[in-house]
Amino acid sequence: MASRTVVARAQCGCGCAKLQNRRVWYDKMYARMISGSTAKYNMLLDGRKRQLLAPLLEDSSIRDVLEIGIGSGANLPYYAAARKDIRLTGVDPNAQMLPYLTASCQAAGFPEQQLAFSTGLAEALPLPDESQDVVISTLVLCSVDDQRAALAEVLRVLRPGGSFLFMEHVAAPLGSWPRSLQELVNPLWRRVADGCHVNRETWSIIRSAGFSSLDLTHFAATPSPLFTLIAPHIAGRGVK
Ligand SMILES: C[S@@+](CC[C@H](N)C(=O)[O-])C[C@H]1O[C@@H](n2cnc3c(N)ncnc32)[C@H](O)[C@@H]1O
Repeated sequence: MASRTVVARAQCGCGCAKLQNRRVWYDKMYARMISGSTAKYNMLLDGRKRQLLAPLLEDSSIRDVLEIGIGSGANLPYYAAARKDIRLTGVDPNAQMLPYLTASCQAAGFPEQQLAFSTGLAEALPLPDESQDVVISTLVLCSVDDQRAALAEVLRVLRPGGSFLFMEHVAAPLGSWPRSLQELVNPLWRRVADGCHVNRETWSIIRSAGFSSLDLTHFAATPSPLFTLIAPHIAGRGVK
């Protein structure tokens, strides 16, 4: 990768096992897999993503934006289309995402000097209190070890009045056959998909996190039976 402007500029200081015990070969493989699937996912949910990220377009006072679990940069085309003047911080425990993130940045035409990548966890964000106007999370709360801690950190780093924009795949309704399938498959899924859970009722954790207002919608990402496990989604905006 020619450019060095997207830099790993901080290490998480919490010393947690999830950061220390990483397997490089697995992280490389997972980063490649995530990078390979983002275009398809973006195509599928393009309208929803545009709607989710509309506040970036509408509010020109937004400057500091944090994306937790930024991965390979699936949302960079949306940021580039909306605003090229935001200061974007991406936090992710998988440092092997960095080459893909850099490539996404270049492909999207997002200014690389506006993006800083930190190796870290949503549960221990390497950022000061009340430093961010917006925090974004897409397909991340399924994977964090501690959802409550992650949301507490989101609230800590958000400025008063700042927004948390999220889109996550979640559990199917209790008692439904897709939920039974999710419960059955989850133990194996977690192992192969870097700790991702298909059966999390993430909406209830977000509802109880302490946002002053919350707009949360449930929707199905696709009617295709192939995607039954990760079809149920939520998206919305929580305001601090
Ligand atoms: C399914 S990928 C989604 C990537 C990207 N947000 C997207 O929409 O394509 C999940 C991402 O969450 C990251 N992740 C896992 N545990 C995390 C944690 N505790 N804190 C922050 N990110 C985490 C993974 O490394 C991975 O990049």
